[in-house]
Amino acid sequence: MSEKAYWPSNWVFILAAIGSAAGLGNLWRFPFLAYEHGGAAFVVAMIIANLLIGIPLLALETGLGQMMQKGAADAFGAIKKSFRFLGWMAIVMGFMVLSYYMAVVGWGLNYLGSAFTLAWGSDTQGFFLNEILQLSPGVEQVGGFSWPVVTGFLIAWILVYFIVWRGVKGISKVVVWTATLPFIVLALLILRAVTLPGAGAGLELFFVPDWSALLSTELWLAAFSQVFFSLSLAFGIMIAYGSLKKRESEMLNGVAWITVGNFAVSIMSGVVVFATLGYMALQQNVPVAEVVAGGPALVFIVIPQAINLLPALNALVAVLFFGAVLLLAIDSAFSLLEAVTTTIRNRFPGASVKKIAFVTSLCGVVAGLIFTTKAGLYYLDIMDHFIVNYGLVIVGILEAVIVAYFWKGDELKKFIQEHSSWRMGVWWDFSIKFFIPVFLTIFLVVNIVNELKAPYEGYPVSAIIWIGVVPIILSPFIGAILDKLTTNSNKN
Ligand code: PHE
Repeated sequence: MSEKAYWPSNWVFILAAIGSAAGLGNLWRFPFLAYEHGGAAFVVAMIIANLLIGIPLLALETGLGQMMQKGAADAFGAIKKSFRFLGWMAIVMGFMVLSYYMAVVGWGLNYLGSAFTLAWGSDTQGFFLNEILQLSPGVEQVGGFSWPVVTGFLIAWILVYFIVWRGVKGISKVVVWTATLPFIVLALLILRAVTLPGAGAGLELFFVPDWSALLSTELWLAAFSQVFFSLSLAFGIMIAYGSLKKRESEMLNGVAWITVGNFAVSIMSGVVVFATLGYMALQQNVPVAEVVAGGPALVFIVIPQAINLLPALNALVAVLFFGAVLLLAIDSAFSLLEAVTTTIRNRFPGASVKKIAFVTSLCGVVAGLIFTTKAGLYYLDIMDHFIVNYGLVIVGILEAVIVAYFWKGDELKKFIQEHSSWRMGVWWDFSIKFFIPVFLTIFLVVNIVNELKAPYEGYPVSAIIWIGVVPIILSPFIGAILDKLTTNSNKN
């Protein structure tokens, strides 16, 4: 049996967790959600969501991992055996996200390659849709693979595999760079973006809220679920990362740093994107809110366009931006792989990390290939919407319910407080015992009802059922099967 590996220090854990949290969620997902939901109002909602859900659940997940010294499945299993399914369900959800996430990383790699020569030319929308994605006319026409995306996707997987195969040691070395460099790159990009003519109008949309927008339940669900996605919650990741901490290490300061660091990356990305949108609005003489369509394509169309318009240093800015995309994405991607390997290693302590990582990566490649087809963008859009808005939120609610109501004596809260220099007392109780189980559930139900009124983005109902709904329903069952397969007969 090999000896258990730990983070070399609490700071490395914090960097690794920021690395996992800050990713495409900040640079790709956050800007398009903010754009769709009225800019600053969404920022306000995100701050509230970070406080009400983000910090308490992050404390719950890292605390549970640290307390039990086990990955997601066995950490919940330590509360009660039958709760193991929830840990697996989280991992399965995360795995589904990872499968399309890597396709987006693949787009990013194509853009990094194109950045040196600004190969996207003047029609950035055409380049993205026709040359990179080679988008088919509709969700029903798969149209074969888009080879640029397949290539990027495979390279991304190879990179991720070679980081994870050495386990926590390899990760510790890599995150020191991948979690810090993007801050510097983003700061440079901000300097450029905010000095563009018209940037002010974009920043106004991003920072001056239209309070009435806060009345939309859709905005709130988008913000709540974005907090899950962005902090890598309900994926089993933070439980795994917590389990790699020494049991006696400090808790809540780390949680606060991770949340603030992650949100800072979102705000920095938002400044770059919105300042740029302001610039484009001025060039095209239209209001900022109408410059482009929102959605997953936003960053890939807007940023190249803006880079084209720069008077100088275009290629340098391009390489920096898409380099940052890659750096941010890569440590998120391997964190998920690590969540899986940690959980499996709990079951087979002697097994080689290399083998586990290899088999998991291979499954990820196979599962993700559908997102590299010419209809990949549609599949991705549907799956992202449903898994994040519903799947993650359901897992988060169940986590809170179990910890608050199926575990006598507030064990976890006590553990967290013993390992922290400050207390979360009422804040924890409000969030874990009330807000998440009750309020978030109500929100969820309201949104499910809304979802039934009209199919998401007008996609065919069959596509929504198969790509959006079925995976969520299957996830606990897939989880239970994985649990069976990995349950060692002489253990547990
Ligand atoms: N927190 C990550 C991000 O914002 C989300 C993520 C983590 C996605 C792990 C996949 C795997 O990009």
